Amino acid sequence: MQTWSVVAIESPERKDRLAQLAGNQAQIRQCPLFLLWLADLARLSHVAQGLRQSHDGLSYLEMFVTAIVDAALAAQNAVVAAESLGLGTVYIGAMRNHPEEVAKVLNLPPQVFTVFGLCVGYPDPAKPAAINPRLPQPAILHRETYGLTEQDEAIAHYNATMKAFYADQKMDVSGNWSEHSTQRVASAAALSGRDRLKEALSNLGFLLR
Ligand SMILES: Cc1cc2nc3c(=O)[nH]c(=O)nc-3n(C[C@H](O)[C@H](O)[C@H](O)COP(=O)(O)O)c2cc1C
Repeated sequence: MQTWSVVAIESPERKDRLAQLAGNQAQIRQCPLFLLWLADLARLSHVAQGLRQSHDGLSYLEMFVTAIVDAALAAQNAVVAAESLGLGTVYIGAMRNHPEEVAKVLNLPPQVFTVFGLCVGYPDPAKPAAINPRLPQPAILHRETYGLTEQDEAIAHYNATMKAFYADQKMDVSGNWSEHSTQRVASAAALSGRDRLKEALSNLGFLLR
């Protein structure tokens, strides 16, 4: 069904406005190309209307999840392609801080939602960044059935790895990965406005039944 779209932004004025809506993240202003990845149910709705057919199925949460998955898969393929060409990227989840305002800037019709942004540009060789270590395989790979407490040892190992990484990369992170990540989910206030996403999606025309 291809329930995704992408808006490519090069205009400095539009990038500036979107940077403001994303907590003034400088990389949005600096990047030559800013891509906005959309969960797009408007196209299929439009196509069905053209055929004078019912499109009631689009109002269900399932179709929204499908559209989010489509947009994320497309974006990550673009990231891999961009990196193969020597470009660098930064995902911008903060595009969900103010979904309705972002929709206005992009002139989105109802039933289209900006899942995230993606800065595309050339990495500065003067500011090399190491690849962020990921959770070790025993934490994320389960065989036959899922195990939760079995992950504790791998998480403890990862915490030590990340503490050293934060210090090495001079990142402004206090504590280890567990502590840092727990802070990020501690309260609604930690979600930078995204705690009202349900309401925002309703305003954008998603029924999510
Ligand atoms: C879905 C998603 C949203 C993100 N949102 C932001 C953001 O708003 N601002 C930011 O600076 N980094 C954000 N990041 C993190 C950067 O893109 C990060 O630098 C990137 O993931 C590379 O780091 P890595 O080495 O951990 O992959 C986000 C990452 C993901 C996957």
